[in-house]
Amino acid sequence: MLKDSFGRVATDLRVSLTDRCNLRCTYCMPPEGLEWLPKPELLTADEIVRLVRIGVERLGITEVRYTGGEPLLRRELVDIVARTAALTPRPQISLTTNGIGLDRLAAPLAAAGLDRVNVSLDTLDRDVFARLAHRDRLDDVLAGLKAARDAGLTPVKVNAVLMRGINDHEAADLLAFCMDNGYQARFIEQMPLDAQHGWRRENMVTADEILRMLGERFSLEPADPNERGSAPAELFLVNGGPHTVGVIGSVTRPFCGACDRVRLTADGQVRNCLFAREETDLRTALRSGASDDEIVELWQAAVRGKRAGHGIDDPSFLQPARPMSAIGG
Ligand code: GTP
Ligand code: 5AD
Ligand code: SF4
Repeated sequence: MLKDSFGRVATDLRVSLTDRCNLRCTYCMPPEGLEWLPKPELLTADEIVRLVRIGVERLGITEVRYTGGEPLLRRELVDIVARTAALTPRPQISLTTNGIGLDRLAAPLAAAGLDRVNVSLDTLDRDVFARLAHRDRLDDVLAGLKAARDAGLTPVKVNAVLMRGINDHEAADLLAFCMDNGYQARFIEQMPLDAQHGWRRENMVTADEILRMLGERFSLEPADPNERGSAPAELFLVNGGPHTVGVIGSVTRPFCGACDRVRLTADGQVRNCLFAREETDLRTALRSGASDDEIVELWQAAVRGKRAGHGIDDPSFLQPARPMSAIGG
């Protein structure tokens, strides 16, 4: 088991497969991209699968989410998913992606055992997309979403980070689009995780504002709050249901107290929180011949040291040294 000193148990493992991406969303990275991790520092597919196996067999991991950067850029993704699905007990397997390439990969991923996907989509306007992500790829994302739904990777969730003056006027349109197409919309407060360190609290569109904007077009009522569990999204019934919308207020409505996550970066570091200050190096352990027992101990110690929360409101808050694309979304 992976238990921290506050009694929280991590059962949800988020694995970053690469720090690279084919978009440049402004809340994440600068238009020129970043200095990517050198290939030899990335875990190999065998190393990833070994760590996931240890997590599942020995540490109580029940859900594995592959992320990035952009995980569809990792050539071995289908193989990694298939090998994850073959583990006992079989974990739930999900993917967080920008959707580019999913039109081709959704069916093979579903066949390999992927259960569901979350796709980032911040706008339905081609010009806004190009300004926000610095690439003209909206049509690819829309095709990816459709392919995911058709391949049964459901529920297909759509993640939208709202930014003031850029795409916040589109919240209600995005929700209507998702309802029409059978996706679950989620609106996300922007967190201080961008490589440029440009996050400003006063620019953040808050959960309260999101609910107010959506409320102008739809009636919203909390869906059963007892069902939220450790999920970051608060769910609301739209117009009485059955459609729901999620609001992820990581900053103003933190869910740290119920957090059940632990992360593995593409270069093999365990992070007990998105905002952790320390990492635990499993790659070096792996490559110097550590046994499964030794990995288990290192990993448990890493989780034991998890802090109570992200601390964004503390005067001493420091943004993590690595941006979200390198940590894993
Ligand atoms: P589901 O299990 O499908 O609900 O996934 P998820 O919402 O946990 O995952 P996803 O990768 O789609 O992340 C959506 C948003 O949740 C991100 O944009 C973050 O804002 C937020 N999030 C994900 N993980 C964490 C975390 O560990 N801490 C905090 N504070 N926010 C997180
Ligand atoms: N704040 C909140 N969410 C973010 N994402 C990327 N950067 C940030 C940020 N600074 C979102 C992506 C993706 C999910 C994994 O995280 O849009 O959907
Ligand atoms: Fe790429 Fe995701 Fe970062 Fe956008 S948020 S640049 S899709 S890693």
